[in-house]
Amino acid sequence: MYAITGATGNLGRLVIEALLKTIPADQIVAAVRNPSKASDLAERGVIVREADYSRPDTLGPAFAGVDKLLLISSTEVSGRLPRHRAVIEAAKRAGVSLLAYTSMLKADTSPATLAIEHRLTEEIIAASGLPAVILRNGWYIENHLASLPAALEHGAFVGASKGGRFSSASRQDYADAAAVALTADEQAGRTYELAGDQAFTVADLAAEVSRQSGKTIVYNDLPEAAFTDVLANFGLPVDLAALIADADVAASHGALFDDSGALGRLIGRPTTSLESLVANALRG
Ligand SMILES: NC(=O)c1ccc[n+]([C@@H]2O[C@H](COP(=O)([O-])OP(=O)(O)OC[C@H]3O[C@@H](n4cnc5c(N)ncnc54)[C@H](OP(=O)(O)O)[C@@H]3O)[C@@H](O)[C@H]2O)c1
Repeated sequence: MYAITGATGNLGRLVIEALLKTIPADQIVAAVRNPSKASDLAERGVIVREADYSRPDTLGPAFAGVDKLLLISSTEVSGRLPRHRAVIEAAKRAGVSLLAYTSMLKADTSPATLAIEHRLTEEIIAASGLPAVILRNGWYIENHLASLPAALEHGAFVGASKGGRFSSASRQDYADAAAVALTADEQAGRTYELAGDQAFTVADLAAEVSRQSGKTIVYNDLPEAAFTDVLANFGLPVDLAALIADADVAASHGALFDDSGALGRLIGRPTTSLESLVANALRG
C-alpha cells in the first residue's frame, strides 16, 4: 500500500493522479490534514486517512499497513522540522519499506535559507535508518507564473535573482517523478537532483511572455530588501517574503540551476517546456 501526505495540496493531488494510472485506488492512502477536503478522492476508492504533521497521534493510524510513503514537505516554513520528524518516526514505527521525501535542489550545498530545513530533514531520515529516496525538487515554474497577472499589468517581472538561471519544472513533472520513485524497484538510497531540462533567467521568462502576449514585459532586478517589500505588499507573510527573496539571491549564485537531466530520465520524457506553460497561463 502507498501513502501520500499533504495529498489535498497541489503536488499531492497530482501524485495521487499519477499513481492511479497504475495502482488500484484501494492501494493508495491519501494522508491528509483535513479528510473533508478529500471526499472526491474517497468517492473514487482512494483510502482517506487523517494525518496532521502537528498532531503525531494521527500519524500512526494513518500509516498502518503502508509499505511506501511519500512525505511531502510541510508548508509551515521555519516550523517544519518537528513536523517532519514526527512523520519520519511514525513511518519507522509503521515499518514502511520506503520513505520518499520532497527535498530541495542541492539541499546539501545550497546557500538558500529555505534549504536548511530540507538538509536537516534529510539528516533525520538518514539517522532513522529507514530505506529512503530523496527527491530534491527544483523551483516550480508555477512559482514564476504566479506573478504573471501582475507582470502583464505593470509591464515587468520583479525579483532579486539578477542573471541567475532557474532550471524550474512544472509540478506535474515533479509529481510524475515522485510516482516513479514510489513504484519503481531499487529506489532506496537514491538522491535525485530534479529540475527542468530548460534553464531560464527571469529576463528570459519576460521575453517569452512578451513574445506570446504581444506586450512588452521586462525584468526589473531589485535589491533583496526591496523585493521582500514587493512580495509582502502582494500579501505574503513578511517571513515568507524574506525567504523567497533570499532564495532569489541564492538563485543569482546558481542555487536553482541544474543540468543533470535527472528529472527527464526519471519520468521517461522531456520536462514540460516553459513555452507551453506560459501559453497555458496566458490562456488563463
Ligand atoms: N519547489 C518549489 O518551488 C516549492 C514551492 C512551494 C512549496 N514547495 C514545497 O512543496 C510542498 C508541496 O507543494 P504544494 O504546491 O503541493 O503545496 P500546497 O498546495 O500548499 O500543499 C501543501 C499541503 O500540505 C498540507 N499541510 C500543511 N500543513 C500540514 C500539516 N500540519 N499536516 C498535514 N498536512 C499539512 C496542506 O494541507 P491542506 O490541504 O489541509 O491545506 C496541503 O495539502 C510544500 O508544502 C512546500 O514544502 C516547493
